[in-house]
Amino acid sequence: MKMKTLLLAPAMALVLANTAQAGDPDNYAADSEAAMAAAGEIIFNHNCKACHSSDASKNTFGPRLHGVFGRKAASVPRYAYSDALKNSGITWDQKKLRQWINANDLLVPGTRMRHVNINDEAAQDYLIAFIKTLK
Ligand code: HEC
Repeated sequence: MKMKTLLLAPAMALVLANTAQAGDPDNYAADSEAAMAAAGEIIFNHNCKACHSSDASKNTFGPRLHGVFGRKAASVPRYAYSDALKNSGITWDQKKLRQWINANDLLVPGTRMRHVNINDEAAQDYLIAFIKTLK
């Protein structure tokens, strides 16, 4: 628990710093989305990158996550997904990604992905903002 809080601290600081810089109110939404994604990348690097490459052409231990937002679960070609994920019927939207990050094995019992549990809602928002940038 303590560990997670420590890891989040730099991410939060980054969001605050970037948001404070955002001058033009018209660009506020875009700026804060970018700041959230930057914070999300830090969380991704700590919790996800060991198994998910940020190189769009590579599956590593886990499938590549490029284009995953809005895509059907288990649809990267030539990646050996679990039957559980293949049969889940999930499309990765905001809500499903939040549930997955919160407790993937509760959302899809029998998944091959090791249990992750990022239950801080702000951290989930940042991580999903970053995942959306993987295209
Ligand atoms: C220990 C390795 C590991 C870690 C750490 C890990 N994953 Fe995974 N991930 C996998 C594997 C393996 C699968 C495929 C699961 C299956 O087939 O049941 C997967 C699948 C996924 C999928 C579904 C992809 C698809 O094509 O349907 C998403 C989304 C995902 N992971 C996101 C994350 C995020 C976000 C994190 C960090 C919070 C993370 N993963 C951390 C190994 C990992």
